[in-house]
Amino acid sequence: MLSWEQTPALATIRQCRAWVEIDLEALQHNVQQLVQHVGPLTTLMAVVKADAYGHGAISIADAALAAGARWLGVATVPEGVELREAGISEPILIMGAINSPEEVAAIARWRLQPTLVSPKQALVFSEALAPHCTDALPVHLKIDTGMSRLGFAWQQAAEFVQFVRRLPRLQIHSVYSHLATADDPDPTMMHRQHQRYEAVLTQVAAQNITLPKRHLANSAATLADPALHYDMVRVGLALYGLYPAAHLKPTVSLRPVMQVKARITHLKEIQPGTGVSYGHTFVAERPMRIAVVGIGYADGVPRALSNRMQIMVNGQLAPQIGNITMDQLMLDVTQIP
Ligand SMILES: Cc1ncc(COP(=O)(O)O)c(C=O)c1O
Repeated sequence: MLSWEQTPALATIRQCRAWVEIDLEALQHNVQQLVQHVGPLTTLMAVVKADAYGHGAISIADAALAAGARWLGVATVPEGVELREAGISEPILIMGAINSPEEVAAIARWRLQPTLVSPKQALVFSEALAPHCTDALPVHLKIDTGMSRLGFAWQQAAEFVQFVRRLPRLQIHSVYSHLATADDPDPTMMHRQHQRYEAVLTQVAAQNITLPKRHLANSAATLADPALHYDMVRVGLALYGLYPAAHLKPTVSLRPVMQVKARITHLKEIQPGTGVSYGHTFVAERPMRIAVVGIGYADGVPRALSNRMQIMVNGQLAPQIGNITMDQLMLDVTQIP
């Protein structure tokens, strides 16, 4: 006998309030657009960290790989293990910091590819790998060219590369960096970071090191300038159909992958002078029709957007009014039939 949880009734009840729809065809369209945009010499890495930006890591990774992505990028070791346990065998780069021996063991066990950010970390990593690895593990050296987040200073990158090269059990697969301002219409800082990255690559080449992959671009850089594509681009936002900035819209045609939907649960007329929601931060100045919607900050709608967002109702934008509450918010639908 079916339990109550397994009955179709519960699925229907779940859709009585709020839900998310993920359009995998739109994702595959975006992947194909991006693959075409970067051309055959550049590999597309689908960045699926943070549960694929909230879209669901496994289904997004599967769909992106089927549509032409060749690598996956995640932030943490557990995110990488989740993909491996789902049967995904393509290369997975861990882009976040790795510091514990347990993480090193999991990386070896699941053949994940770590980012290394300093000679000391690389040394510890190489030693910690000894019990787990017979063959060398591909590693990616991160260089800080101006983001001031993870990475070794670009001015000393050559020494870092030289040092890691001599360590056992590690094989340098890439030297990469991350851009801080690629979505800015003023490309000055992006060009400066590009020049620094080029300087690093020149020094690496001078040591007769051939890198299987060089990569620098996130979504914004991928759309902004083909000179930043190198051997691979690491694309997140654009996969999900979001343009990092308005000036980048003409480059490729993207479709939104996620829609957050909720039902109007109640309609009411209010008179001028009536306050709406906690704190009465909105007070009606005219007769209004308001809609109560079954979604709130517990569902992830930021409370800080109270009185500052619009929501599509029957194809028309309705202003949100009053403070967003835990599981409900109010809209001004006076103009919407
Ligand atoms: C190192 C790195 N590369 C690429 C990306 C993808 O960036 P975007 O979503 O802007 O494409 C991220 C995302 O946070 C990142 O941390």
